[in-house]
Amino acid sequence: MIERLAPAKINLALAVVGRRPDGFHELVSVFMRVGLADRLSVEADTVPGEGDHLVVTGASGRIDGLDLVLHAAGLLRAHVGRPLPALRFSLQKRIPVGGGLGGGSSDAAAALDLAAGAWGLALGDEERLDLAARLGSDVPFFAARAAAALIEGRGERIRPLPPPHGAPAVLLVTSEQGLSTTEAFRALDASGVDFATSGTAAAYGLAAAIDAGLDAQAFAGWAGRLRDANDLWAPALRLRPELGARRDALEHALERPVLLSGSGPTLLALYPSLEAAEVGRDRLAGLRDQRGLRITPTPVGDAREDREAR
Ligand code: C5P
Repeated sequence: MIERLAPAKINLALAVVGRRPDGFHELVSVFMRVGLADRLSVEADTVPGEGDHLVVTGASGRIDGLDLVLHAAGLLRAHVGRPLPALRFSLQKRIPVGGGLGGGSSDAAAALDLAAGAWGLALGDEERLDLAARLGSDVPFFAARAAAALIEGRGERIRPLPPPHGAPAVLLVTSEQGLSTTEAFRALDASGVDFATSGTAAAYGLAAAIDAGLDAQAFAGWAGRLRDANDLWAPALRLRPELGARRDALEHALERPVLLSGSGPTLLALYPSLEAAEVGRDRLAGLRDQRGLRITPTPVGDAREDREAR
């Protein structure tokens, strides 16, 4: 059996700069990997077969996107074009589903690597990224195995960035009810936005600052500039009106700006250390209306998550 962690990501600035003819949107965003991760393992049958199988633990209800694991295996099988043993995947979910944390995309990138490992295939970088892009917009980031990156295009143009120095962290606040990315983009289009976005400057500015060497304290200090740099905030708020009051309550309790990750509904606060994020979590103990919320302090840009299939 081989196994690997599939980490979540956060978006620090998410500018939607245009709509493409194929219906997808042009983005400028800084993605950062965090410590919170799913765990995916695979075993190959001994004889060729096509009935790949997935068992999921740790998530309930209807789980959109989890078929991406099987889709990744099927895509690689078709790409190779010869009979290969059937695969049995086991996925332990920790990343909230539909949370704006890229869990399904990360699982898909991990599945590509695990399937290649189980079948003894050596994939070139370009080949892996190309397959990843066909699985979903966020999958190339995870397939690139970067701790952080400036993302452009639909998600396929990736400029890796070093993680911030030190050991910064985030406090993630996610509701059990996920939010569909497709719906969030649809709501953005319906609002008639002209894509003149302030998030672009924040994304490029943060990427430049990280390149120049950003320490954990300075990283946390970016929260004010990043707070309103996610263009999916307005559509997310339209779809989940409770996000407004929740963000207000979190900012009041945490005494710091709170950002939206991806299309939400995950909200997050930046901290210079995991200990500081844990203090933040403790401050939320008295928050009214925290039923149904998952509150998770986790390290940012954690390079230790970057593991080849073992
Ligand atoms: O690529 P992925 O399947 O993850 O995208 C989910 C949905 O998000 C797409 O169906 C599309 O509606 C929207 N999307 C977009 N532009 C992007 C990424 C995603 O419109 N760059």
